Amino acid sequence: MKRRFIITAGPTREFLDPVRFLSNPSTGRMGYAIARAAAAKGYEVELVSGPVALRTPKGVVRHDVVSARDMKRSVDLLLKQPFDGKTFFIATAAVADWRPKKIAAKKLKKSEMSSVLELERNPDILKSVKGAIKIGFAAETGSNIEEAQRKCRDKDAAMIVFNDVTSPGAGFGTITNRVVFVCADGRSEVLPLMTKDAIGRRIVKFCEAL
Ligand code: C5P
Repeated sequence: MKRRFIITAGPTREFLDPVRFLSNPSTGRMGYAIARAAAAKGYEVELVSGPVALRTPKGVVRHDVVSARDMKRSVDLLLKQPFDGKTFFIATAAVADWRPKKIAAKKLKKSEMSSVLELERNPDILKSVKGAIKIGFAAETGSNIEEAQRKCRDKDAAMIVFNDVTSPGAGFGTITNRVVFVCADGRSEVLPLMTKDAIGRRIVKFCEAL
């Protein structure tokens, strides 16, 4: 069976002028680990990456993007490419939910800036994807499995990988993670503290079994 993995990773940056942006502390490690695991099994891997300081894994095609809208455009283009096998879309990116309504072409002077920033919603990339088997992540503060189940249904995903970013050894920037696989059929599997590379291999295995 031919398999293709389209993976989003890292943060997005939402600029308000050429020198200021809204973003988050995602390092991209989880997405890069999945990409490495899938490429090691010989699958086609397209990695759509926000700005991170990681090396592209061997055998992976990387597409660099900055904003959420760039990321969506890149994903949409990749999904349009014909492929005679199963496509998996794995969304690990910490996509900024909001972007500034206006992007100034020149650096804003302090005197020109208001203390209120007008924002608008970014597109939900995972939710919008069609024609792929989808896996998403839910980074929560606290153990909120019901929320992961709700996200799984809402985004029509085969699985949501839940993690509590406040738990020790889990979340942004760590090399380990503590996750729960929350599946569309209502089942869930609690995994022990593992390296992100080991979790990447488990996710690829999960995809192979579908
Ligand atoms: O709704 P929430 O942001 O918690 O959902 C997280 C999941 O959705 C992650 O898999 C993330 O990559 C994806 N997502 C996305 N586009 C967004 C927001 C989240 O693909 N705008």
